[in-house]
Formats: sequence, structure tokens, C-alpha cells
Amino acid sequence: MNTLWTSAEAESATLGQASHSFVVTGLSLNSRTLKPGDLYVAIKGETRDGHDFVHAAFEAKAGAALVSRRPDGVADDAPLLTVANTQRALEDLARAARARSDAKIIAVTGSAGKTTTKEMLKLAFGALGPTHVSGASFNNHWGVPLSMASLSREVAFGVFEIGMNHFGEIRSLVSIVRPHVALITTVAPAHLEFFGNTESIADAKSEIFESIVPGGAALIPSDNPYAERLLARARQFHVGRVLTFGAEPGSDARLLSYEESGEGARVKADVLGRPVDFRIGAPGRHIATNALGGLLSVAAADGDVLNAAAALKTFAALKGRGARFRAGAVDVIDESYNANPASMTAALALLGQSQGRRIAVLGDMLEMGADARTHHAGLTDAIGAARVDLVFLCGPLMKALWDALPMERRAVYAPTSAELVAGLMSALREGDTVLVKGSNGIRMSVIVDALKARAG
Ligand SMILES: Nc1ncnc2c1ncn2[C@@H]1O[C@H](COP(=O)(O)OP(=O)(O)OP(=O)(O)O)[C@@H](O)[C@H]1O
Ligand SMILES: [Mg+2]
Repeated sequence: MNTLWTSAEAESATLGQASHSFVVTGLSLNSRTLKPGDLYVAIKGETRDGHDFVHAAFEAKAGAALVSRRPDGVADDAPLLTVANTQRALEDLARAARARSDAKIIAVTGSAGKTTTKEMLKLAFGALGPTHVSGASFNNHWGVPLSMASLSREVAFGVFEIGMNHFGEIRSLVSIVRPHVALITTVAPAHLEFFGNTESIADAKSEIFESIVPGGAALIPSDNPYAERLLARARQFHVGRVLTFGAEPGSDARLLSYEESGEGARVKADVLGRPVDFRIGAPGRHIATNALGGLLSVAAADGDVLNAAAALKTFAALKGRGARFRAGAVDVIDESYNANPASMTAALALLGQSQGRRIAVLGDMLEMGADARTHHAGLTDAIGAARVDLVFLCGPLMKALWDALPMERRAVYAPTSAELVAGLMSALREGDTVLVKGSNGIRMSVIVDALKARAG
């Protein structure tokens, strides 16, 4: 294992005090998932204080712990790095990791598709050199610094997912990341209860352009209704290179053709004047568009686009984000991880590509603000365009869509996901394709689990 931080380096980055000298090989905030040799970082959250788990971290063989006070039950010879504020110290470590790195750094934000694009970039850059990507959806005020502080010296490319639900959040996170390439996947209504309107979301997302390093690039989705607004913001921040990706003519990475085949799709594109023809291991036009953004990132980081594109054939849709499975004689598209109008529309379009009966099982999209009911009812168009045969709905907001749906598409409405299971099971027939999607809080995974049990 490579050394990530020595106690001397960590002391000088954080202005902390080490009780004993140490060497750590990774970083963790969670004593249950910590790997031997990790630096355990004790963060005080809303409900729990990480200091209560320092002893558990050492039981799991932590290499050292970053703390703001001596916790109970810890041996006298346990290496502790004591600082005034552990959250600030984590950010300091992240800044020091960024400062010592020669890697090309990519930052990804957007209303949907961040993790999907990040996983594509893991494959694409991974084909070109050692690549570090942020874990899971570690995209917030602790996730981003944790991911950056974990960046090892040996890495050639670093990819960071950046999320937000209020103004200024991306600004502060991207000031730590200081990317060479900043990519916005898409702008769509999400977290509307905090932002009010989608223009504001576009502006908040564009904070990612504020800390691009000199000569770096801003990447913008050309097919998005807010593309012009994002372009204007990139110019306002004096970004050196502003590039676009999408099907729109004139895009710097332009989708020329998209054709589903087998488990995935074949994509023909033009990336900065060069033809690129590649396979991608998961279907969906939104997936292909994410891939174009990914390949444009590679080009903007001076990487070999053809080799990177070849690596995308092994990309598989992620659990809860389009992963498919067979439940008896039925195909299931598991989109149970999250939902907003953009990702719902993308997923319904994907369902529309399938043969046999198309069944949509949809739950509420949360955090949609005052116009939530209108956004739910508005899905009728996407359902019509996808020629969905039967619609099962759950959640209080989905009642608005139920009322707007034409009679012949209505199957069952219920307040909770669990109440849909029996009706759905009895409706299924051989050859059906079932899309299951809703915000995580609506627990559409209950339906996915029931379908898996049917398969098992
Ligand atoms: N470019 C895109 N446009 C619209 N929808 C997309 C796009 N890419 C992915 N999706 C949809 O968004 C869903 C979530 O994808 P993903 O987890 O990659 O998003 P995320 O931005 O990382 O979400 P989170 O904010 O929860 O971290 C997918 O299941 C898919 O339905
Ligand atoms: Mg994510």
C-alpha cells in the first residue's frame, strides 16, 4: 500500500498536533467501512459525533484518527492528530493533496447523471493511466474534501462529483477541487424547494466554472434549454476554453448517430473534428450524451480519445440507475435510486425502446417545491411519447399525474410503494418490460425487491 499521509505532512497541512508519528494509506469517516491503515476522521454530524466511534475505528485497525478532543476508550499509544475543527482540517488536507498533485483534475456536476458520468470517466481515463474517482455519491461538504484528501501522489487523473442544494455550495467545493475540466451534465428542475426556478439552478451549477485553473475548460450540454445561460456564465468567469457536447449541430463533441444493440448501444460521434465510433455497455440516449461529455473531458485533458472511447464498451448501468434484471419472464429496469423530471423523462424514453408491453411503476419526485404537482402531472407527455401501456403510481404527489393520465393507461394508484406490489405482480405477463423509478425517500426499492424475489 502506498503512503497517503505521514504524520508530519498531515500536521503541516492541518496545523494539528500528532500524539505519535504515523503513516496512513487511506481516509475514512465511517468506522464500519474503514480499511486497515486508514486515517479515521471524526466529524460531528447532525445526529452523531464521530468522536464516539474512534475506539471502533482503532478496533478496525485505523492507522490514526483525526480528532478535535481526546475521545473515551482509546489507548494511550493510539496515534491521534488533534486539530481545532476536524471538518476544516479535512478541507486543509484536501487542499494539500490538490497542491502536491500533478494529476489532470475533472469536476462533474449537474441535475442528473453525475455518478453515471463519473463511472464512465473511471473507465475512460482508467484506460489512459492511474485514475482516482470519488467514492459512491461523495459529492457534498464532507464527501468532496474526503475524496480529494484521498488523492494519492501517483495518480494521473482525478475525477470528482460535486453536488449541491443551495447557492454557494459548489463554489466552496470547487475552490478545493480546482479542476482542469469542469463538466455540467444537465440542468433540470430538482431541489426546486430551495431554488424556486430552473434558471437559478443553472446559475448555481455554473459556480463550478469559478475555480477552473488557468487554461482549463468548461464543458456544457448543448441540447439543454439552459445551454446559452451556462455559456454566458462561463464567459463571465473568463474560462479559457468553453466547449459543448450533444446532438446540436456545431457541438464540439457531437452525437452523429445512436443505435441500440444487444445490451448497449453503438454511438458515432465527432469529438473536436475527429470521428469516434464506439460501443457503450448500457442503452439510453442520456447515457450516450453522458459518454460524449466524458470523451470531451478526455480531449480537454489532452488524453487519447480513441483509447478512452474503446473502454466504454464495458460500462454497465449502475444499481438503481438503469441496471436491468430478469424477473421470471419479465424484464426490469431498476431506476429506484432517485428521480427528477429530467431523469424520469430519460428513463421513460428508454422504456419506450423496449419490445412487448411497457409498464411504468413510478413514485414521487421529492424536493420539487411549490409547482411539484404540475411537474408530476407534466410526465403525461413523456409517458405518451414512450407509448407506455400500463402505469402504476404511488406517493401523494403522483396523485396529480394519476388524475392527468388517460384512462386506458391507468393501472393502480396507491399512497405507498408497498401497496402497489400485489397489483403489479398479478398484472405482469411474459415479455413485459417494467420500469421502476422514484425518489429514494419513496422507497421504490420495495418493488424492486419484490420483483427480485419473484425472479429468485
Ligand atoms: N444526462 C442525463 N439526463 C437526464 N437523466 C439522466 C442523465 N444521466 C443519468 N440520468 C438519470 O438520472 C438518474 C440518476 O443518475 P446518477 O446517479 O448518475 O445522477 P446523480 O447526478 O449522480 O444523482 P445524485 O444527485 O443523487 O448524486 C439515472 O437513474 C438516470 O435515470
Ligand atoms: Mg450521484
